[in-house]
Amino acid sequence: GYKPEELIGRPVSGLVHPEDIDHLNTVMRRVIRAGEPSTRIEYRYRKADGEYLWVETLGTILYRPEGGFAGIICASRDIGERKKIEVEQKQLEENLKREKERFQVLVDASPLGVSLVGPDGRYKYLNPKFTAIFGYTLEDVPAGRDWFRKAYPDETYRREVIVQWMKDLQEFPSGESRPRTFKVICKDGAEKVIHFSPVSMETGDQLVIYEDITERKKLEVQLIQAQKMEAVGTLAGGIAHDFNNLLMAIQGNVSLMLMDLPAHHPDRERLQQIEGCVRSGADLTKQLLGFARRGKYQVKPTDLNDLIAKASALFGRTQKGIRIHQKFARGAWAVEVDRGQMEQVLLNLLVNAWQAMPQGGDLYLETQNVFLDAHYVQPFEVKLGNYVKTSVTDTGIGMDEETKQRIFEPFFTTKERGRGTGLGLATVYGIIKGHEGFITVYSEPDRGTTFNFYIPASARAAEEEKKEHAVLKTGQGGILLVDDEEAILQVAAQLLEKLGYTVFKAHNGREALDLYSQKAGEIDLVILDLIMPVMGGGEAFQNLKKLNPGVKVLLSSGYSINGLAKEILDQGCRGFIQKPFDLKEISVKIREILDSEDAG
Ligand SMILES: Nc1ncnc2c1ncn2[C@@H]1O[C@H](COP(=O)(O)OP(=O)(O)OP(=O)(O)O)[C@@H](O)[C@H]1O
Ligand SMILES: [Mg+2]
Repeated sequence: GYKPEELIGRPVSGLVHPEDIDHLNTVMRRVIRAGEPSTRIEYRYRKADGEYLWVETLGTILYRPEGGFAGIICASRDIGERKKIEVEQKQLEENLKREKERFQVLVDASPLGVSLVGPDGRYKYLNPKFTAIFGYTLEDVPAGRDWFRKAYPDETYRREVIVQWMKDLQEFPSGESRPRTFKVICKDGAEKVIHFSPVSMETGDQLVIYEDITERKKLEVQLIQAQKMEAVGTLAGGIAHDFNNLLMAIQGNVSLMLMDLPAHHPDRERLQQIEGCVRSGADLTKQLLGFARRGKYQVKPTDLNDLIAKASALFGRTQKGIRIHQKFARGAWAVEVDRGQMEQVLLNLLVNAWQAMPQGGDLYLETQNVFLDAHYVQPFEVKLGNYVKTSVTDTGIGMDEETKQRIFEPFFTTKERGRGTGLGLATVYGIIKGHEGFITVYSEPDRGTTFNFYIPASARAAEEEKKEHAVLKTGQGGILLVDDEEAILQVAAQLLEKLGYTVFKAHNGREALDLYSQKAGEIDLVILDLIMPVMGGGEAFQNLKKLNPGVKVLLSSGYSINGLAKEILDQGCRGFIQKPFDLKEISVKIREILDSEDAG
C-alpha cells in the first residue's frame, strides 16, 4: 500500500512487526556470517494502513568483492491466507491434544473396563479398571489371541465365544455396539460374568467396554429362586391345609367306629389300616407344611447342641457304616425353634448324607456362634446379628452344579422311584426360612457335601425338654367347638363327647361369640379353628377375651399362618393343635389346659 517514495530511505526495521524483529536480525546475521547467497524468511510487515501482513521474503544477498555485506534484493509475497490456516491448524491440534487428555483421564478413571485393540490384533491400551476386574495387564495379554486363550481356557467355550464374536463383527456396522455376556476366567482363576460392549471404530480399532455383573447375576438368581419357592410354598400350604381337614374327618370317623366295634370284630383291622394311611398322609402334609412355612407353632428357646446330639444318636444307632464326628460350640447361644421341626431338618439332612455315602464314610456335625454383618446377610434377606450356624458335612458322592441349583425345589430328586420323593430339602428350606434363618450348600462331585444353616440367636436361655406321654385322658365339662367344616365339626364333636365332654358347636367366630355369651357358665374350653369365614379365629379370640379375660382357648388348624398363630398364642391362648389330630393327642391337650390354673 506504499508509494515508492514513501519507503525509500526508511529503515526496514521500522516496518517489521516488533515481535518479529529479533528473529529477522538473528537470521540475517547468521546467513551473512556463513556467506550464504540467499535466504527465505517469514515475518509480519506493516502496511500503509497500519495493519500487519504476513509475508514470505526471498532474499538474494549481495557481497562486496573484497567480502562483507553489500545489500539484499528482496522479493516478498503475501502469505496471510496460509498463515491463517496454519494458526487455525495449530489451534485444532491444541484442542485435539486437550481432548485426548480429557479422554485419557475419563478412561483411566472409568468404573468400566476399557480396552483398545489395533487392526493387527495387538492391544493398544487397557485401562486400570480392566486390570482391576481381570487381573491381566498388557504384559499378560499383549494381543487379542492371548486374551482369548487366558480368559476362556476351556476350548469348547472359547470356540463358542470366538464364533459369536466373529459373527457379530460381520453383522454390525462400525460405530455400533455389539453387547454380549460371557463368563471369563481371571488371572487369579476366579470366574466372572462380564457384560461386553465391543465397537468397531472407523480406524479399524476395536474398542471394548467391560462390565463385571457377577454379583448382580448372583442376586438375580437368588431372587428368582426365592420367588419360585414362595409361590410353590403358597400352593403347597393350601393343599396341605385342605388335605389336613379331609384327613381329620377320616381320622375322626375311624376313631369313632373303632370305639363302637367289639374287640374282635373283623373290621377292626381294616379300620386300623385306614388309620395307618391317614398317618402317612399326615406325615406328607406335615412335610408340605414345613416347606410352606406355615407350621411353626411350638417355639421354645432351645440348645441346638442338645437337639443335634439326640437326633444324631437316634440316627447313628441305625446307620452302622458311618462315623459321626461332633464338634459343638461351647456356650452355644439358644435359638427359638419348633423342636419337632428342627428334628425334621436334621433327620432330612442326615438321611441325605447317609444316602450319599453308600459305602459308608464320615459325617461331621458342627455348631458355631457367629455374627453376620449387613453385607453377609443381604442376599438371604434376613436381619444382621447373632446366629447359630450348624454344619452337616458328608464325604459322599457330592453334586454337580446343575443338581445343586435345584435341590431345594419340592419333588426334585435324583434318587430312583420309591427311594426319594424330593421333599426332604424343600422341607428343610421352608422350616429354616420359617425360623428367619437361611441355608447354604457347598458340594462338588465325589468331594462330599456341606450344608450350613443359620438360625438367629435368642436372648433367652434354653428350656429343658419335657416328655409327654400320649395316653387317652377322659374328662368332663363343656367345650365350645368352632370350625367351618361341617364334617369336622360333626366328627370332632362326637369324639369329644366320647371323652366325656359336653359339646357346643359353632360354624364361625360370630356364632361362637353368641353361644359363649349365652352359655359362658357351662363352657370350660373353646377349641377354635383359625381360618374361617364371617369371623376368623384371631378376631373371635379377641372378642372372647372381652367377654371373659380368663377364657381358655385351644387353637386348631390345618395350617396356621405362621405369624398369626404365634400372635394369638402370645396373647394368652393356651395351646395349639394341628389337624388331623387323633383322639389321644386332643385328649391330652384338653386336660392339660383344663387342669392348668386360671389365668388372671
Ligand atoms: N448330602 C448330599 N449329597 C449329595 N446329594 C445330595 C445330598 N443331599 C441332597 N442331595 C441331592 O438333592 C436331591 C434332593 O434332596 P431331597 O432330600 O430334597 O430329596 P430326596 O432325598 O431325593 O428325597 P426325600 O428326601 O424326599 O426322600 C437328592 O435327590 C440328591 O440328588
Ligand atoms: Mg432326602
